[in-house]
Formats: sequence, C-alpha cells, structure tokens
Amino acid sequence: MIIGPEQAIQLLKEGNVVAVPTETVYGLAADALNPEAIAKVFEIKNRPADNPLICHFYSLEQIRDYVKEIPIATEKLMMHFTPGPISFMLDLPGDSPLKFATCGSEQVIVRIPDHPILLNIIKELNRPVAAPSANTSGKVSPTSALMVENDLGNKVDGIVDGGECKVGIESTIIDSRSKHEIVILRHGVIGEKEIQSLLPKVKIRDVNGLERGVTPGSKYRHYAPDTQIFPVDSFSTIVHERKTALLLSQEKFEAINPATRDKFLQHQNYFILLGSMKNLSDLARNFYSMLASLDRLGISKAFFLKEDFGTSSLGKALQTRIEKIIS
Ligand code: TXA
Ligand code: MG
Repeated sequence: MIIGPEQAIQLLKEGNVVAVPTETVYGLAADALNPEAIAKVFEIKNRPADNPLICHFYSLEQIRDYVKEIPIATEKLMMHFTPGPISFMLDLPGDSPLKFATCGSEQVIVRIPDHPILLNIIKELNRPVAAPSANTSGKVSPTSALMVENDLGNKVDGIVDGGECKVGIESTIIDSRSKHEIVILRHGVIGEKEIQSLLPKVKIRDVNGLERGVTPGSKYRHYAPDTQIFPVDSFSTIVHERKTALLLSQEKFEAINPATRDKFLQHQNYFILLGSMKNLSDLARNFYSMLASLDRLGISKAFFLKEDFGTSSLGKALQTRIEKIIS
C-alpha cells in the first residue's frame, strides 16, 4: 500500500516497518532504537540474524550523537559526499542503543541518504532509521515502489513512493576509521578515485569481494532473481537454447546478426538489454529492474553475455554485483 511521508513517520513512531525511497535502492525502514521494530525488519526480509542493518541519519551532527567519534578523514568525506551514496563504518560507545540494529556489533554503518523525502522523515522522527534494502534476503534490491510492492507488498505496513532511484545500486561502504588507510568494503558509485581526489595522501585498500565476512552480508548470495544465470563468452554457445533469456549490453545485442537474433526469438527466447556500456550510470539505474524482469518470464535458466565493465568505481560496482548473481 502506498502511503505518504506523514503516515510513514507516524507508523515508524509506533514501531512499524515501512519501505522508503533512497537515491540508491529502496530501504525497509524501522526506528533504529526500537528493538521490536528491528526484529520485524529481520522477519519481513527473512534476513539472517547476524547481518546488521545500516543506520540512516539526516545530518553529520545527528550521527555525532550516537558514535564514539567521527575521525577527521571520515568527517571530510562526509562533508563532501553526503547526503549521497556512501556509508561509513564507525565505532559505537559501549552502551549504545543502536546495538539491536547492529546485531550486537560495536561498529555501526551510517549513511546520510540523498533523498529529500527520506531525509525529512528522519528529521521529523528525530531518531536514526535502520534500513536494509527493501527486498526478501537473496532477491534483487528494489529501485521503485512497484518492485517493493511485488516482493514485500503484503508484509510491510506501507510503501512511500519516491520515484525511481537515481543511482540504482547500493551505497559504497568504507571503513575510514584508521589514520593510515581507507578500506572499501563494498563498491558503489563513489570509489577509490573519488575518495583519492579528496584525500590524495591516504592509502586505499579494496577488499570488496576478497575479504568475505568483513561485512556479514558479503557471505550471503545476493541480488539474485529466481532464475539461475550462467555467464557465457559468446552468443554462439547458446544459440540453440530454448525457453531462455540472454542478458546483454546494447552493444553486444547490436553485434549479433539480425537474422540470427530473429531465429533465437522464434524459439521462446528473450533478449534482456541491460543498456549501453557507454553510459554505465543509466545501466546501473536500470540494472536491478532488468534482473527482476527475469522473474516475470517464468524461466528457470538465463545467460549473461560477459562484459568488461572496466575499472571506474561504477564499473567495479557493477562487476561485483554481476559476480554475485551468476552461478
Ligand atoms: O544503499 C544502501 O546502502 C541501501 C539503502 C537502503 O540505504 N542499504 C543497503 O543495506 O544496501 P543492506 O542491508 O542491503 O546492505 C548493508 C550491508 C550488508 O552487507 C551488511 O552485512 C553490512 O552492510 N553491514 C551493515 N551494518 C554493518 C555493521 N555494523 N558491521 C559490518 N557490516 C555491516
Ligand atoms: Mg541488500
């Protein structure tokens, strides 16, 4: 059910769970200080109990009230990049009320989302909002209210429709607590290059996809539609398949001979165009809805025509998501 922001604030105050828009993906929001509300988020998502929730704030000052300290490098990055698609790992004081949201961990991941509706909700609530992506664990993250409705519509107390997410993939997560290095825990649209331009002297270590288990979520299969997806190097290897779909870029699609494409389509097959490799921002924005469209086709097996997404922050972010969905 679509609700307005005022209703969302009221529901959150009463300990309910509502889906909210952010610039990255929709979040499943709860009052981060309310243990029962947090428990509902885990139940609705069917989320493993050891996988902590990102906490959303409306300002740096609000974050300061809850954490041990905001290290200088972190503050600098926050001032420059937030509100925006980047999240920071920080230390909590021993008696923190955020420990329910962090599953007992002494570190919290904080984020100031760049979406006016959500910022206003957090401000009015005047409490942090815990919000993992608004999908059943293991399903793709939603980038529109309709995608939330399709996955969790009958489980949430309401969905705030804030339009389509302008980034389309989850926030970058970094640990910038140390003076000596910044660790990238999850790739996103803001990456090494952007961070380095602001902090040229600091060493940046990229552990995404390597050091599994740093963020509990990294050990679980993620972002996956119901359909199994297999990577292929060329169209010719699957040309004789039936009742399948091929995910591919605009460029790879255009490179296939039109007569061959038609023949493929005549055998109950589909092409799912991910977008142009020349515009990764657009591709990222549509990425999860393209994946979710697979589920509607009712096919058990699909293929992904491999791409080199390059070394830009967004390219790496897309590459790591692809690696998590392909079998
Ligand atoms: O863009 C985003 O970050 C979105 C929107 C809704 O804000 N949120 C999001 O949350 O992607 P989620 O729960 O789907 O992914 C958060 C990741 C998970 O892998 C989780 O394990 C990790 O961050 N995480 C959260 N809190 C943590 C903590 N205290 N310590 C270590 N890892 C944490
Ligand atoms: Mg998620």
